Amino acid sequence: MNVLLIGSGGREHALAWKLRQSPTLARLFATPGNAGIAEHAQIVALDVGDHQAVIEFCKTHFVGLVVVGPEGPLIAGLVDDLEAAGIPAFGPTKAAARLEGSKGFTKDLCSVRNIPTAAYRRFADAAEARDYVRSAATPIVVKADGLAAGKGVTIAATTAEALAAVDDCFGGAFGIAGSEVVIEEFLTGEEVSFFALCDGVNAIPLATAQDHKRVLDGDRGANTGGMGAYSPAAIMTDALCERTMARIIKPTLAAMAARGAPFKGVLYAGIILTAEGPKLIEYNVRFGDPECQVLMARLESDLLDLLLATREGRLDKVSLSWLPEPAITVVMTAQGYPGAYKRGGVITGLKEAAKLPGVTVFHAGTTLVDGAVTATGGRVLDVTATGPTLIEARNRAYAAVEKIDWPEVYYRKDIGWRALARA
Ligand code: AMP
Ligand code: GLY
Repeated sequence: MNVLLIGSGGREHALAWKLRQSPTLARLFATPGNAGIAEHAQIVALDVGDHQAVIEFCKTHFVGLVVVGPEGPLIAGLVDDLEAAGIPAFGPTKAAARLEGSKGFTKDLCSVRNIPTAAYRRFADAAEARDYVRSAATPIVVKADGLAAGKGVTIAATTAEALAAVDDCFGGAFGIAGSEVVIEEFLTGEEVSFFALCDGVNAIPLATAQDHKRVLDGDRGANTGGMGAYSPAAIMTDALCERTMARIIKPTLAAMAARGAPFKGVLYAGIILTAEGPKLIEYNVRFGDPECQVLMARLESDLLDLLLATREGRLDKVSLSWLPEPAITVVMTAQGYPGAYKRGGVITGLKEAAKLPGVTVFHAGTTLVDGAVTATGGRVLDVTATGPTLIEARNRAYAAVEKIDWPEVYYRKDIGWRALARA
């Protein structure tokens, strides 16, 4: 089967690497791709926003499945248009992708179905939001309703900070995404990333994982897309997984089906393990990045079969197999990320790094320029390793990081610290 993979990050490199291992795969195309994805796929130039152009490409090249990595094209309805044109696609429809596209939509759904989440209010009016903030306790969380590239969330320690966040949203700092605001209770507890493959009716959980969202060691500093991840996350016990499936994932699937928008794809629940149990912070409608990298490093089952079973509603007949060894990934970024950063540095040492036992280097923001791997993104490489223990996996990943160099590199030195402290 020919497959078209959409996306350009470390998540998509990990998906390409894993898809390549499937005996069912014939040709793999990727757009826009990156220098690492190019090792497993034929990179094609397509305007993903032009759904008709994607459809034409798929017809011409006999594509049997389109795998959509990032949320943007899902929320824009790419899967709807592909499926309407008879081209099978992995990922939710536009209506189902509202679980990520609108925080207010998800909060209302939780409320109706009694799904545990932070208490909240929705506001479309700045004055009302400001009044509410003045009356509410701190810390408090202010969120732009729509997609804001990970920047629309403010954890406000003071009322003044919360008011400023409300003003930012309604003042247009996040464009249309901020025209509505969700204000919610601050939840205390450790955060985990919970993934389930969903076929509209059935859901199966993937292996457990945690990521590090903050830019500085010790989980301090600015929020990022993710500075590292590991799997399994020992804190997420089988009992907590079962409770998350029963109280959060399954009721969500039932609610979406009842609304005529069954969810198919991978549902990523950001969960806080509070004293009262797991509570949902938010949904994403795609694999997490960099969690996908450690999940793919541990997945033994055939990924292409799994994605097809998800799309075709056959997950009740699927069981997953995972490498028992843990995996960890260290994200190498450009200095300055998540703020302004330089592009264009040439990266060396990749081959030496990849030779180390258990190590796979996924590319996140690279381009081949005159044959040289060049840094062209904020998150640039995801140095991933498996090992007999988490400590060994961590040591292997950092040994590989040491072999890689470019002038503007930054990375965290403490990926996995919470889990390692428990080990
Ligand atoms: P989001 O963009 O919704 O993922 O939020 C970014 C991060 O802010 C999350 O990953 C959490 O670490 C944190 N966060 C969001 N909402 C809450 C909340 N209600 N309580 C505590 N932390 C939160
Ligand atoms: N790892 C966070 C995300 O994918 O949004």
